[in-house]
Amino acid sequence: MMKWVNCEKMNVLGWIVIVTEILLFSGCAGIQPTVKYQPSEQPIPKSQWPLGTATSSEECGVCHQAIYREYAFGFGADLQFKGIVYKSTQDMILNLPANVSARGTAHFLAGVDPFPIHARGVEEEGKSCDVCHFPEPFKIMDIEELNIPGTIPKPVARPKSQEAGGMTCASCHLTPEGIIRGPYDVKAPHQTVQIGRMRTSDMCAYCHSLGKRVVGKQTQTFLEWREDFNKPGLGRQYCQDCHMPRTLRKSAEDFDVPVRAVARHLWTGGHSSQRLRTALGLVAIQPKEGKPELEFHIINIGAGHSVPTGSNRRAVYLKADIVDSRGNSIVNREWMFAPWYGDRPDEKAFLEEDKKRPDAESAIQADAQGPHEATIRAGEERILSWAPELKTDNYTVRASLVYDLNRYNERTFTDDQTVLSSTSLSVKVE
Ligand code: HEC
Ligand code: HEC
Ligand code: HEC
Ligand code: HEC
Ligand code: HEC
Repeated sequence: MMKWVNCEKMNVLGWIVIVTEILLFSGCAGIQPTVKYQPSEQPIPKSQWPLGTATSSEECGVCHQAIYREYAFGFGADLQFKGIVYKSTQDMILNLPANVSARGTAHFLAGVDPFPIHARGVEEEGKSCDVCHFPEPFKIMDIEELNIPGTIPKPVARPKSQEAGGMTCASCHLTPEGIIRGPYDVKAPHQTVQIGRMRTSDMCAYCHSLGKRVVGKQTQTFLEWREDFNKPGLGRQYCQDCHMPRTLRKSAEDFDVPVRAVARHLWTGGHSSQRLRTALGLVAIQPKEGKPELEFHIINIGAGHSVPTGSNRRAVYLKADIVDSRGNSIVNREWMFAPWYGDRPDEKAFLEEDKKRPDAESAIQADAQGPHEATIRAGEERILSWAPELKTDNYTVRASLVYDLNRYNERTFTDDQTVLSSTSLSVKVE
């Protein structure tokens, strides 16, 4: 039987189980043979995964249908990957290939997301720098082990010829010994090993942090969580509790297995306005009556780490604008919050020095933007003061927080921006 399979239509009812070896990462579009999966009595031999983490996720999705639907189509989230501009709006828009769903999770899209692939070409001359995007199986490190020697090593990249699938189910679930790990003690048609720590942040540390703890730097998400959120007791949540909300269901639909608390494989982050809007609170006040002084309070109320976190490309802008009693905008100001590229603040003064670095391109890109505000740490309330010159009048102060996936491209390109919140305040200056 041949069947046209369309990504957008591939929902609960329309779910068609595909078993195919040719389907390595061909995604959904195309003519594909479809076979209804018959649960087999025979265990699948261990050699089922000779490709290691390059094993196509569709193979797992045949049995773990709901999880695959979340991972590949973001089913249940509001994810949206739009085309991105690397620098100038005159440049070509980097779009996802047509055969993948732009509503898939970042993990699903990691092998085809044109942003990191293009960035690697421009910034690193194509070197396999983005090793977390296509990793070999790794051992889950212990949260305490990560203290010794205190740095988080880089994952090992798959060979270039095997990058296509990006981050697969196997990237997280395959142990270096080639066995599937999970949080439960199960009977499955494949070998499994129960690892309770899969439910803790240790699981995410390897790719969501690199090197030593440097407050304010990029690639610190796990360390931010551990040092700023978990250790001081701001919350009990692990990464999964916020990023993989659980539901009761069978994790393999066609099998006689118990209903369990199963994590939704959604990982909403910078591509989800639902997620982003919960991160920060914004308050504007005039602390002294009649005085032309303003304060903006930006409060990290929703993230178990700094905001923005992760890649140095991310930024949050605070935009403020003052309108007089006749409705004229008279003065405005903008602040940028972003992770530093290196282990010191981004700074124009380093531009000459940067030229000698092996990662000159990326370092210059960050330093050329000059100094900016540090990221807002877990639980932090950041206060920014502004004393514009204002004559006696009644004014309206308008302020908004905007999240940007790529702070290095032209600001007029807004497809990668999300307005997080807006506020306004009436002030009287005497
Ligand atoms: C032939 C069907 C089938 C295929 C193919 C399959 N699985 Fe499973 N898997 C199962 C069943 C059945 C269970 C047991 C579920 C339960 O008891 O909740 C299971 C359990 C699991 C668990 C839970 C283990 C635990 O200890 O908690 C994980 C994780 C898992 N599979 C991942 C994968 C991955 C990754 C792939 C692809 C590389 C895959 N599976 C392919 C049927 C399958
Ligand atoms: C094998 C490496 C790896 C592991 C392990 C991993 N991630 Fe990721 N994660 C990535 C990469 C790479 C991306 C970005 C992919 C892209 O955008 O192209 C990403 C993206 C994300 C995003 C979305 C960011 C966005 O831009 O929308 C979230 C949220 C996330 N990961 C959470 C987690 C959590 C929670 C865990 C632990 C359960 C985890 N990740 C484990 C590598 C990993
Ligand atoms: C970024 C890492 C990552 C990727 C990619 C990933 N998983 Fe998981 N998976 C996890 C984590 C972490 C858990 C444990 C969740 C928790 O805390 O309950 C889990 C749990 C599971 C379980 C056991 C049920 C449960 O929720 O405890 C199954 C089955 C499973 N995953 C299958 C898959 C399949 C199939 C894919 C690909 C379609 C996949 N996973 C992709 C990280 C991942
Ligand atoms: C208390 C809930 C909470 C916990 C715990 C939490 N996060 Fe987040 N996470 C958020 C919120 C809210 C955002 C959106 C704001 C942002 O991007 O910083 C987010 C965003 C992200 C992003 C998106 C960054 C991007 O560039 O798109 C990643 C990746 C991420 N989290 C990973 C993790 C990891 C890894 C852990 C555990 C070490 C973790 N989160 C723990 C709430 C949480
Ligand atoms: C330590 C693991 C790790 C390494 C090494 C790494 N990345 Fe990433 N990368 C991530 C994660 C995790 C994300 C998800 C977003 C976040 O955390 O902000 C990401 C996101 C990105 C993004 C943004 C994609 C998007 O979804 O918008 C680009 C571009 C990128 N990486 C390029 C690179 C390049 C180029 C290199 C080599 C210099 C590299 N990465 C090395 C883990 C890594």
